Amino acid sequence: MRISSKTGALKTARTDLLVCLFVKGETPQVPPAFEAALKAAKTAGDIPAKFQGSRLLYPSGRSMSKRLLLLCAGESKKLDNERLRRLAGVAANKGIALKATSLLLHPSERVCKGRDGTQLGLALGEGLQMGAYRYQPPSKEKAKPVSLRDAGVLCPEKGAPKGLTAAVSRGAKRGAAVCFARDLGNKPGNLLTPRKLAAEAKKLAGGKIRFKALDEKQMAEKKMGAILAVSQGSREPARMIFLDYNPGNAKKTICVVGKGLTFDAGGISLKPGAGMWDMRYDMCGSAAVLGLFHAIKSGACKPKHRIIGVVPTSENLPGGEAIKPGDVVRACDGTTIEIQNTDAEGRLILCDALAYSKKTYKPDAIVDLATLTGAVIIALGHEIAAAIGNDDKWVQEALAAGESSGDSLWQLPLRDFHRDQMKSKFADLKNINQGRAEGGGTISGAAFLSYFVGDTPWVHLDIAGTAWNQKAKGYYSGGATGFGVRLLADLLG
Ligand code: BES
Ligand code: MN
Ligand code: ZN
Repeated sequence: MRISSKTGALKTARTDLLVCLFVKGETPQVPPAFEAALKAAKTAGDIPAKFQGSRLLYPSGRSMSKRLLLLCAGESKKLDNERLRRLAGVAANKGIALKATSLLLHPSERVCKGRDGTQLGLALGEGLQMGAYRYQPPSKEKAKPVSLRDAGVLCPEKGAPKGLTAAVSRGAKRGAAVCFARDLGNKPGNLLTPRKLAAEAKKLAGGKIRFKALDEKQMAEKKMGAILAVSQGSREPARMIFLDYNPGNAKKTICVVGKGLTFDAGGISLKPGAGMWDMRYDMCGSAAVLGLFHAIKSGACKPKHRIIGVVPTSENLPGGEAIKPGDVVRACDGTTIEIQNTDAEGRLILCDALAYSKKTYKPDAIVDLATLTGAVIIALGHEIAAAIGNDDKWVQEALAAGESSGDSLWQLPLRDFHRDQMKSKFADLKNINQGRAEGGGTISGAAFLSYFVGDTPWVHLDIAGTAWNQKAKGYYSGGATGFGVRLLADLLG
């Protein structure tokens, strides 16, 4: 979808759907052809007064805009960037529902007043792009491309904040990176295997971005026994993908690691059948990493540091050669691991990725994103992801990026006793604590990973609750959310 931005008078708007965004209590401004309809709506008491409330109006007489949507932004003092993103998402959704091919979103003077133009533009650009996203399934019935082709922001000539136009286009690009990650997330396991994920990553290479992927033979040479242990139960070979963005004069190197289980059946510790199809989403951490590189490639995000994207990717299936509970394997840094539960596989593919990244790139900081534990859903639900780290400053930076981007985080603790709980009688470490009975499963996962990053500042984001969402809302239409892409862009850009 094309997204543009301009300033101009409302009466010059020519579009299928003109969306007039106004704050509660304000009389919406409309072009002359809609004034009668507005008046009638007002008389009937039908002007929306709640956040996201809307009302469709039709013109009387000749009009450059086919229809007009009154969209209420709620109370002026509650209107923040997240609300603006959601409102833009609602506008895009209405446009699609009405089969409009074009849409113009007009924030009123009072919506714009006192607002930073860059923040406003980013929020509206992102919201429109993310809100218009629909996964196109490979289906005869359902493959209907979205009709909406052009969306724009029309700013009032008076009071348009500075920097808005450039920010709308950057926001749209950030949104496109999120949609790219959603597409990867929504693809079922047969259509997105580890090798196909590597092919997708390769397409992002070019310019200052270089691509490399290790196959299983190369991983064996590097003694990556943990990821290979996960992959051995499946016929699909695993990959370890690297995307290296080097701006040239970087002072720091940051590794961004994403869990890429293209399907997680649990292995021999098999998951229950109901809902297992959702484990297509177990590569959403890797999708966020690839989404970041999409944003770098499009220029939406311009990191000054060298950024290494690392994606360990595999299936987790109970094939005849699958690892068994109790098996002991060795990660590439020599650590031995007793695999008590083959369904705690994310930490196994990640530990090789973390240890290898640390040794090879000597990064100044590491961030990883993983759909690691069901426990995080119990702890924090579907709107907020968990952040756990070993360095307070780096954790705080991640939390701040979560807040500014709308990909919200909440910190959980990691103490020495948590780390001690991961020690095994039969190896250096075991891959689970005692499960449900002990509780704190999200922390256990992080405690395990912490052994492989050493002293390098590291923050782990458990996105199992936020990576996909059953309910549609604002700029989500269901399915993969693309969680993490905007957060990474804010953290690193
Ligand atoms: N991919 C799952 C985590 C998950 C579960 C994500 C539900 C989203 C929804 C992960 O590999 C897993 O199976 N984790 C286990 C860990 C346990 C065996 C310690 C879990 O959460 O049950
Ligand atoms: Mn699992
Ligand atoms: Zn998993």
